[in-house]
Amino acid sequence: MFTLRAFRTAMRTARPAMGMCAVAPAAARPIHSTPMRRSTKSENDGPDTADPEHPETAGSFARTDATVTVEYPEDHELPSSAPVEGAGRAGVQVYPTLATFSLQGKVGVVTGGARGLGLVMGQGMVVSGADLAIVDLNKEEGIKQAENIIETFKADNPNAKKLPKVTAHYADVGDPESVDACIAEIIKEHGKIDNLVTSAGFTENFEATKYPIDRMRKLWAVNVDGTYLFATAVARHLMERESKGSMVFIGSMSGSIVNVPQPQAAKAAVRHLAASLAVEWAHAGIRVNCISPGYMLTALTQKILDDNPDLKEKWTSLIPQGKMGAPEDLMGPVTFLLSNASDYVTGADLRVDGGYTVT
Ligand SMILES: NC(=O)c1ccc[n+]([C@@H]2O[C@H](COP(=O)([O-])OP(=O)(O)OC[C@H]3O[C@@H](n4cnc5c(N)ncnc54)[C@H](O)[C@@H]3O)[C@@H](O)[C@H]2O)c1
Repeated sequence: MFTLRAFRTAMRTARPAMGMCAVAPAAARPIHSTPMRRSTKSENDGPDTADPEHPETAGSFARTDATVTVEYPEDHELPSSAPVEGAGRAGVQVYPTLATFSLQGKVGVVTGGARGLGLVMGQGMVVSGADLAIVDLNKEEGIKQAENIIETFKADNPNAKKLPKVTAHYADVGDPESVDACIAEIIKEHGKIDNLVTSAGFTENFEATKYPIDRMRKLWAVNVDGTYLFATAVARHLMERESKGSMVFIGSMSGSIVNVPQPQAAKAAVRHLAASLAVEWAHAGIRVNCISPGYMLTALTQKILDDNPDLKEKWTSLIPQGKMGAPEDLMGPVTFLLSNASDYVTGADLRVDGGYTVT
């Protein structure tokens, strides 16, 4: 049978050779549906090669590459991000859209909101009518970006009668005491919380057998514990208020597929946590969804690409849309999932990946 996986492998094999992997032109074989020949080797004969005619390329597009190792950079190594200009579409005639897409009157929290995807999603929430609390380890950057968001909003909406309230707060999302103190501070300043986006997180690339355990624990603490701690703190607040709410966890396409060639620790826990909490909190009117971005061009991914120049070609060759995503590509999806327009959507995983995970 010609399975989807066989098709994907065949497509990869048929792609032109790229810088990173030494692929012989002979790899451009036609796709056919003949079942793979069974090896006649015994189990004791050692590792087998799926395609003995092309042992140098067999499986090479579908495997991780141990030479790609990226440690999460120090804060000062990453430049500050700029808010998106023109998101309010100044000077452009915008026709009314569904009122249910509006976040008017809502207070949103975005963790990891001082930079990268979190910053742009937070700005999208503000443009859609919400007040915003930016939460980050780097409070100084959060304060600067809160001011930037308001200034950009003013420039984009010169006739706005009311300006959004945007505040910045410190938290280490993996530390329960820090999270509780931060939530209390936000409620004191904004009066309530309706929406949460958990974007604080990071990725490193190590071979599993060589991943330092302290770094692995840190990865888990920020990505998984951090999501869980913020979500449960906001859920407690919503339940006390007997109020509906919506949360979006930022996972990754690596939560459902295995990226290549870089080895990558999983976001699968974040994706399934969203599903699990969606069921547990449905009775309280709290919706929980996940957004799984594909390769998005942020300062962080730019740094990874700078360290591994051949990687971009490899990545984009595997994306049906043929390009990496821009952080702005998440503004609409996050607004949709936080707003009443998605009132019957909970426990979903919305992949924003240019089609990567469907091939
Ligand atoms: N950029 C991509 O291509 C991509 C793809 C898929 C998923 N993601 C996920 O999206 C999220 C955002 O990624 P990004 O590219 O914007 O990263 P980024 O490094 O640009 O931004 C992350 C922000 O989180 C903050 N942060 C880190 N640890 C924290 C902690 N313990 N407490 C509070 N804040 C903390 C950082 O200070 C930073 O401002 C991450 O969860 C990442 O795994 C990114």
